[in-house]
Amino acid sequence: MKKVLVLYYSQSGQLRDVIDSVVSPLQESQVVECHCRAIKPVHPYPYPWPFYTFFDAFPEAVNLDGCPVEEMELEADYDLIVLGYTVWFLSPAIPVTGFLQSAQAKALFKGKPVVTVIACRDMWLQAQEKMKGLLAGLGARLLDNVVLIDQGKSLYTFVTTPRWLLTGKKDAFLGFPAAGIAPAEISSASRFGERLVAALADDCELGEGPLLSKLNAVNVDGKLIASEKIAQRSFMIWSRLIKKVGKPGSRNRRVVISIYVVFLLFMVLSVVPLNILLRKLIYPFRKDAIDRAVAGYELPSGK
Ligand SMILES: Cc1cc2nc3c(=O)[nH]c(=O)nc-3n(C[C@H](O)[C@H](O)[C@H](O)COP(=O)(O)O)c2cc1C
Repeated sequence: MKKVLVLYYSQSGQLRDVIDSVVSPLQESQVVECHCRAIKPVHPYPYPWPFYTFFDAFPEAVNLDGCPVEEMELEADYDLIVLGYTVWFLSPAIPVTGFLQSAQAKALFKGKPVVTVIACRDMWLQAQEKMKGLLAGLGARLLDNVVLIDQGKSLYTFVTTPRWLLTGKKDAFLGFPAAGIAPAEISSASRFGERLVAALADDCELGEGPLLSKLNAVNVDGKLIASEKIAQRSFMIWSRLIKKVGKPGSRNRRVVISIYVVFLLFMVLSVVPLNILLRKLIYPFRKDAIDRAVAGYELPSGK
């Protein structure tokens, strides 16, 4: 009997639904014992988020300053770890980073094969690069990455996702689609669990992976690569500045965060559309390089 540990942190329950769908075949299987655990921060983050609290999480998220998390009841040894995480400001959510920096994670992940499952708006490339670094630091082996993103075009989800996170409202409105991942996408994520059951039965987790190829596990939007890189660079500068002016929740920090939010809005409304346009213009001339970058970010599982 193979033992699989499933870890996740979800606020609204969306990532938990994704994880439930992925692991349902594992739970029904006779060859796998599946232990699911939610990562719990010692001081919970609010949902829906008050405006300033939301942006106040930005410097720590970007700098991978994880928060303390509750210790979990776990066994010492697992054959495979499925790690579900959401993206906060182009970085893994703070509680997930916090868990990966804990003594418990150090003991648990060493040498273990890991499948990451991301549920986010649509900007996850930089977060997964950081996740690769965190997992490598623990000595874990990343076999696969599965990504589900919010429905609707990027320009729509710039509105629907923040509205959902700041108010809790997920419904369609004024021509915008409902926020979050399409329910059909969530239910079809069980295909990854079915493949994992078959792979575990054949000891494939002992190899280099991937286990989830040709299942459309990831779909990199080449248009967002440059935007994410530019945003990441500016996030590093702003996050250091905000951290210097005060501790989370302080008045000084509020002032700089207010300025930063205006800057961020400007970035979103200018840099992202400009990059999309630029990519369209340069794509015919740099097709090979751009396609190679897309394929690189789609590793290890690929389309
Ligand atoms: C503070 C914060 C920052 C976020 N930043 C990003 C981001 O940079 N990229 C992205 O695609 N989604 C981002 N999201 C959306 C989340 O990845 C996720 O889709 C949403 O929080 C729902 O997850 P849940 O299952 O925890 O409710 C952010 C969410 C929060 C709360």
